[in-house]
Amino acid sequence: MVRNYASRLVIAAALAGILAACSSETPAGSSAGAAPAVLKERHDNFEEIGDAFKAVRGELEKGAPDFTLIAAKAGDINTRAQLIESHFPAGTSVEDGFKTEALPAIWAKPEEFKAASQKLIDESAKLATIAGGGDAAAVGAQAKAMGGTCKGCHDQFRLDDKK
Ligand code: HEC
Repeated sequence: MVRNYASRLVIAAALAGILAACSSETPAGSSAGAAPAVLKERHDNFEEIGDAFKAVRGELEKGAPDFTLIAAKAGDINTRAQLIESHFPAGTSVEDGFKTEALPAIWAKPEEFKAASQKLIDESAKLATIAGGGDAAAVGAQAKAMGGTCKGCHDQFRLDDKK
């Protein structure tokens, strides 16, 4: 039947178009289309975490640290750490062509990534509690412990471009 043949051709042509669209390679570094909004959200979230941690360290360098401020910053880090997991939907790694330092290991080892973010959640909560005690040495030690969780995750899951 002629009509059937024609519609099959149309379907075949449409499929070919879809396949071509799927297989078009996106070289790393080039744009893979509009970046999902979550990329900016997670970038901003980490920047805020970084700024809060800097503020904590800045206080600890002072003769009389503001422990209330340290506790507040630790609380901010704690709230933000709880968002980390939700900021990494599939298809947003550096290998997907986006401007990001998120390594594919995040999706290859989801349990480890979850555990790494949980460590920051736990250590920042501890920091907030210890800051309430006002003992500079104890707060300093806990700030260091919390900093170790940043490095622990970055070493495994963040692209190191500082070589
Ligand atoms: C569970 C893993 C994990 C933990 C814990 C973690 N980070 Fe990150 N961090 C990442 C990843 C992954 C990126 C790269 C994000 C991207 O480029 O999309 C990143 C990026 C950053 C950036 C750069 C911002 C950006 O997106 O370019 C800063 C600053 C940063 N982290 C600071 C910290 C600090 C400070 C801590 C600890 C207080 C911390 N991070 C804890 C995984 C983590």
